[in-house]
Amino acid sequence: MSEYIIKIENVKFKYDKDSDYAVNGVSLNIKEGEFTAIIGHNGSGKSTLAKLINSLLLPTEGKVYVKGMDTSDDSKLWDIRQTAGMVFQNPDNQLVATIVEEDIAFGPENQGIEPSEIRRRVDTALNAVGMYEYRKRPPHLLSGGQKQRIAIAGILALNSDCIILDEPTAMLDPSGRKEVMETLKKLNSQGKTILLITHYMDEAVLADRVVVMDKGTIKLDGTPKEVFKNIDKIKGFGLDVPQVTELTQELIKEGLDLPSDIIDVKELVDILCQ
Ligand SMILES: Nc1ncnc2c1ncn2[C@@H]1O[C@H](COP(=O)(O)OP(=O)(O)OP(=O)(O)O)[C@@H](O)[C@H]1O
Ligand SMILES: [Mg+2]
Repeated sequence: MSEYIIKIENVKFKYDKDSDYAVNGVSLNIKEGEFTAIIGHNGSGKSTLAKLINSLLLPTEGKVYVKGMDTSDDSKLWDIRQTAGMVFQNPDNQLVATIVEEDIAFGPENQGIEPSEIRRRVDTALNAVGMYEYRKRPPHLLSGGQKQRIAIAGILALNSDCIILDEPTAMLDPSGRKEVMETLKKLNSQGKTILLITHYMDEAVLADRVVVMDKGTIKLDGTPKEVFKNIDKIKGFGLDVPQVTELTQELIKEGLDLPSDIIDVKELVDILCQ
């Protein structure tokens, strides 16, 4: 078994024979336990890449492996979807049952898991996302952030090793976004591999690794510090950098002697106070 939970090898994908490649030659390896953020302008191929990992789409060229399983191997489809579960942007489209705990039980039930084991998994998943108290509630009465935490719990109940999230906070208010990010950080600290597609740079800086996509290819890949110090490049891809990084570079231009890779407000404050 390779140490990479996801291996993407020279993958190209186009939706139609006559269209351009939506993913145009991507190679990317994700280690087990890594928290990776994927950022990129609209249409850069992020969602397509996520769907290729989850076997919702199959590569036109190249290979994708999830825990060593080839995503184009039909017989592995269920194992792949279970290993790398996906959370989407709209929380309302993902919840199927009328009671929270039934919603989380839905996946394991479909897998034919024994009721006592389902009970255990549902409770563990609810606790992991901090929603145990809400287990008897109807999902439609929850806030957006809570609904996304329930969607995440649904994946945890399948015993997934990896969670792929495609802009899970795009429809949430700031407190909902914070809830979801805190949940992801906690799950990652417990060993889950997280792949987060986001348009928010303040979310991307919380990852271990940031991958920048543009026109179907990977343009930058590194720690948040390594990636975000390339302010001009990142802006060239139609993206923002964290405000504090931008401010730091302005201060450097004004003659202050500061490191160019600051991504955290506290870090800048500490240095300025010295
Ligand atoms: N179902 C589809 N059929 C045809 N073309 C598609 C389809 N989905 C996406 N595309 C095209 O593929 C390219 C990549 O789209 P994709 O949705 O992967 O980008 P994205 O980075 O997720 O964008 P966004 O930030 O807007 O979500 C775009 O040119 C898009 O128009
Ligand atoms: Mg998308």
